Amino acid sequence: RARLHTVASAAPVVAGQRRAKANIDWDSLGFGLKDVAGTMYVAEWTPEKGWDAGKLVPYGPMSVMPSAQVLNYGQAIFEGMKAQEGAKGRVVCFRPDQNAARFKAGAARMSMPAVPEDQFVEAVKSTIASNLDYVPPMGKGSLYLRPLLLGTGPILGLGPAPSYTFTIFAAAVGAYFKGGQLTPIDLIVEERFHRAAPGGMGGTKAAGNYSPVLVTQLEAKKNGFADVVYLDAKTDTYLEEVSSCNIFVVKGKTIKTPPLSGTILPGVTRRSIIELARSRGYTVLEEPTTVHDAMDADEVFTTGTAVVVSSVGSMTYRGNRKQYTAPGQAGKVALEMYGALTDIQTEKADDKFGWVVPI
Ligand code: COI
Repeated sequence: RARLHTVASAAPVVAGQRRAKANIDWDSLGFGLKDVAGTMYVAEWTPEKGWDAGKLVPYGPMSVMPSAQVLNYGQAIFEGMKAQEGAKGRVVCFRPDQNAARFKAGAARMSMPAVPEDQFVEAVKSTIASNLDYVPPMGKGSLYLRPLLLGTGPILGLGPAPSYTFTIFAAAVGAYFKGGQLTPIDLIVEERFHRAAPGGMGGTKAAGNYSPVLVTQLEAKKNGFADVVYLDAKTDTYLEEVSSCNIFVVKGKTIKTPPLSGTILPGVTRRSIIELARSRGYTVLEEPTTVHDAMDADEVFTTGTAVVVSSVGSMTYRGNRKQYTAPGQAGKVALEMYGALTDIQTEKADDKFGWVVPI
């Protein structure tokens, strides 16, 4: 396979110089496309040639037929990743091997050709390296990367696409939830709809998992909640996840999170927080966690690449509101885990797990 020529091997660029190009207000970053990066990566797959080497091109429209499989039948998976400026002055990304592996597993579930893991990681690094001017100053945010695998070839009858596109775009982002990173979020437990069912695709980062949640999320937002918590489809008893993140429940020194039984997303931040919490003396159980465990907890928090670690201020279930934190004040364990994770991600702390990959 031909290899993409990348700028990743170029000499490190001095932080001040590299941000000169992008005209960004680093103090007002939200989670959006206002500061979308100028360069994206695109690779194409055909049955004759497999994946091509991929290339870096200006961010812009992609051309597909109305008959593209992805537009008709939704053959699409995605990833979320972040690159950040660290305390050593260099730009680093976080556990790209984990996203590469999940992307591969997702492709298999969706009958798409897998992107080789080394090509995935190389493409991510190249996309970051060619958008260094969009990486925020340390502590102001991150460069969010969005790899996509799409069935872009045309088809009419239901079947896999005849050809595929692997692309990565990026944007400078700040906190995901309104109110900022350390403002606790209010959640409501959803009982009419389920996010996923046993044997379905809840454990896959498929595009199709993320729009059915909007109907409840928008209603929750109208009622003053940041998002909803889903329960298991079989018994309506066990926590699954929030629309865009995994969930953890704290009682004393024990932290519980739902196990990866196929219906919840195997989050990279989820896995990292489990390992970090254990290393800091917590007992972490990956086991079925009931909504009553959550209502009885000392603290609840959510994790995800986009949300990082988000403290849950309150949870409302069947009209009962459980308040975990004082207004505007993040929970103790959420703060501890947020600090421990972001200190590694920004190279302020020793990377004893080997998670950080320099660009
Ligand atoms: C992420 O956390 O990076 C995700 O991909 C979740 C998305 C719904 C924002």
